[in-house]
Amino acid sequence: MTDSTLRTVTLIDDLTGKSWKLPVRDGSMGPSVIDIRKLYTDTGYFTHDPGFTSTSSCESKITFIDGDKGVLLHRGYPIDQLAEKSDFLEVAYLLQFGDLPNTTQKTEWIKNITYHTMVHEQLRSFFNGFRRDAHPMAIMCGVVGALSAFYHDSTDIHDERQREIACHRLIAKMPTLAAAAFKYSTGQPFIYPRNDLSFAENFLHMCYAVPAEPHLVNPVLARAMEKIFILHADHEQNASTSTVRLASSSGANPFACIAAGITSLWGPAHGGANEAVLKMLIEIGSKDKIPEIIKRAKDKDDGFRLMGFGHRVYKNYDPRAKVMQQTCREVLSELGLRNDPLLETAMELERIALQDDYFIAKKLYPNVDFYSGIILRAMGFPMSMFTVLFAVARTAGWVAHWQEQFSEGEQKIGRPRQLYTGPTLRSFVPLEERGGKTDAEAFISEWQRRRSDTLTG
Ligand code: SDX
Repeated sequence: MTDSTLRTVTLIDDLTGKSWKLPVRDGSMGPSVIDIRKLYTDTGYFTHDPGFTSTSSCESKITFIDGDKGVLLHRGYPIDQLAEKSDFLEVAYLLQFGDLPNTTQKTEWIKNITYHTMVHEQLRSFFNGFRRDAHPMAIMCGVVGALSAFYHDSTDIHDERQREIACHRLIAKMPTLAAAAFKYSTGQPFIYPRNDLSFAENFLHMCYAVPAEPHLVNPVLARAMEKIFILHADHEQNASTSTVRLASSSGANPFACIAAGITSLWGPAHGGANEAVLKMLIEIGSKDKIPEIIKRAKDKDDGFRLMGFGHRVYKNYDPRAKVMQQTCREVLSELGLRNDPLLETAMELERIALQDDYFIAKKLYPNVDFYSGIILRAMGFPMSMFTVLFAVARTAGWVAHWQEQFSEGEQKIGRPRQLYTGPTLRSFVPLEERGGKTDAEAFISEWQRRRSDTLTG
């Protein structure tokens, strides 16, 4: 029965004159939605929205983005305030539980994460199956999925306590596995996590310490790492988070769902963009090449895109990019790289692009990936590790969304439909009636071809 207080929109089929009232639901912020869950049963129509440019896939309370205003809130808190004043594990708690933790809650949360940072010793042998030059994202896809083979006591998605432990394990073990992937590529021994270090300090320690000498983490770099992790922690229903939600809807275990998210993040249009930006900046080389690269980005026939620019949601400056640009300056200054040519190229590229009519008309601004690669490279990470760091941070958002689905009661499996434009019904055609050469004819003509090749040399 339709609630008369409900707001509706009316759909009219101009062909038949039939009309239907569709309920409208309002959120606390952002666009309202037309609830089309009964559209097909009531009208016989599907909606069609490849890329989901106008589709709400779920209800969520975790992150809000206003793309036109360049606003990003995590549980109502602006990203720039969190980046400046919070730390990564505190933001991970906020994403998952909805509020900033008090002292007791924060202490308990940090202890829960800290005591899960080690991985099963046997898991380390998985790395040996990879070539040393394997892309670390390929390694992460493999070893994170393999976690479900080691932690059976946190794979039952219907057990709340097991779900909680799975979240602890995933947030805690991602940096350990990421650092191991980095060490594996260098041939250096893996470094065990330390319980006396913060999340970012521990990660940098596991990446850069060696058994041969003491290692102290630079506090400026540790703070920058925390900020980078915070800026990448969550971003509403992006491709990889939607992948995690879809995988979870079939009842897949949490480690498999996060492994699915990692694979989706790897693409250069998504989390792989930070690696692609640096390759682009290096390819540009000097500032005088910038007009050529801008010309290519505007050429529809070229297929080249200005990496680190544009966003499905932001039609204004990505608020994360602003914090990232400031962090970039801090790190380069700390490392004595104030005049890094790549940063100068990036700044000039941004300046020119933001004045260009094409980018203005299409509302293309720098996104979170535009500056991150410059910082990570300055910190000593190879380009192939950039998206791995993104995955370490985004795990906090992925597990928060994964958990949120269970709070909505019984999950329905995600199963989109389609607009079918293939062949209509037809009967099977036996091979001999399909034309072309018979096997014997094909064999003879191939033999004749090879023979003539041999004869002619
Ligand atoms: C992330 O979704 C998220 O939240 C993602 C993310 C997160 O935190 O999870 O924010 C992280 O993925 C950031 C985005 C990183 N990717 C890149 O930097 C790659 C370069 N950017 C583009 O590939 C593109 O902007 C996307 C993929 C990010 C968004 O693409 P859309 O929303 O599908 O937009 P579109 O492809 O329809 O582009 C609209 C127009 C097109 O021109 P027309 O066909 O209308 O003539 O803008 C053009 C595009 O050709 N365009 C670009 C461009 N991005 C879009 N032209 C040149 N350079 C670009 N970068």
